[in-house]
Amino acid sequence: MKTKTKKIIVANWKCNPVNLAQAKKLLGLVERGVKDLKNLKVIICPPFLYLPSIKRQASGIRFGAQNCFWTEGAFTGEVSSKMLKGLGVEYVIIGHSERRQNFGETNGIINKKIKSAVAVGLKPILCIGETKEQRRNGQTDDVLLEQLEVGLSGIQLKAGLILIAYEPVWAIGTGNNCQPQDAEKARLLIQEEIGERIPILYGGSVDAKNVKSYLDVEYNGVLVGGASLKSEEFVKLAQNSCK
Ligand code: PGA
Repeated sequence: MKTKTKKIIVANWKCNPVNLAQAKKLLGLVERGVKDLKNLKVIICPPFLYLPSIKRQASGIRFGAQNCFWTEGAFTGEVSSKMLKGLGVEYVIIGHSERRQNFGETNGIINKKIKSAVAVGLKPILCIGETKEQRRNGQTDDVLLEQLEVGLSGIQLKAGLILIAYEPVWAIGTGNNCQPQDAEKARLLIQEEIGERIPILYGGSVDAKNVKSYLDVEYNGVLVGGASLKSEEFVKLAQNSCK
């Protein structure tokens, strides 16, 4: 049954590119390259600043933010879930390891963000994953389960509400992608915890060459960082995921 559902490719542009003209150009190239691909859902997550203009430029592509805050008010520099929803954004990445590591986001903070996103009808893409040290110490399963348990606490899981991205921290931006059989173990653990109806993505050095190996072990899609900034590579990746 799973093979018939649309594959999901999330492009996490992170803090790139450096100006709106480049963002529009990248989006245009991607849009052209993927528009005839069937059974594929492409979700682009640009920096907040570009969302209003590039959202208008594209058709057939979904949009997400890379972060959100749970409320409005005296919170300098933040952007709330309600504001994103008001802009017509559909998805939001929450709990990316770069937010956890560089901005001190805990599972508790992530849970507040998830709740606020779900409350306004934004679909969170919750990122979870172990560090190299945690993997070496045999803690991978415990770390993933805790991130899921606390991150999703109080959320009534159902189809269409949320996506999970398994992103081993050591595989992100390193070119050292997780072996598909190890990624499969993580996927099975996650699925056991959250059920079969929630899509699970793999992320961490995904490129055009390795994307298929994750779909082959029944991931519903991938979350792509570095390769999403190179239009040719990204389009190839999208094509290969349809094969
Ligand atoms: P990467 O990033 O594809 O560059 O490893 C993935 C991510 O950070 O989500």
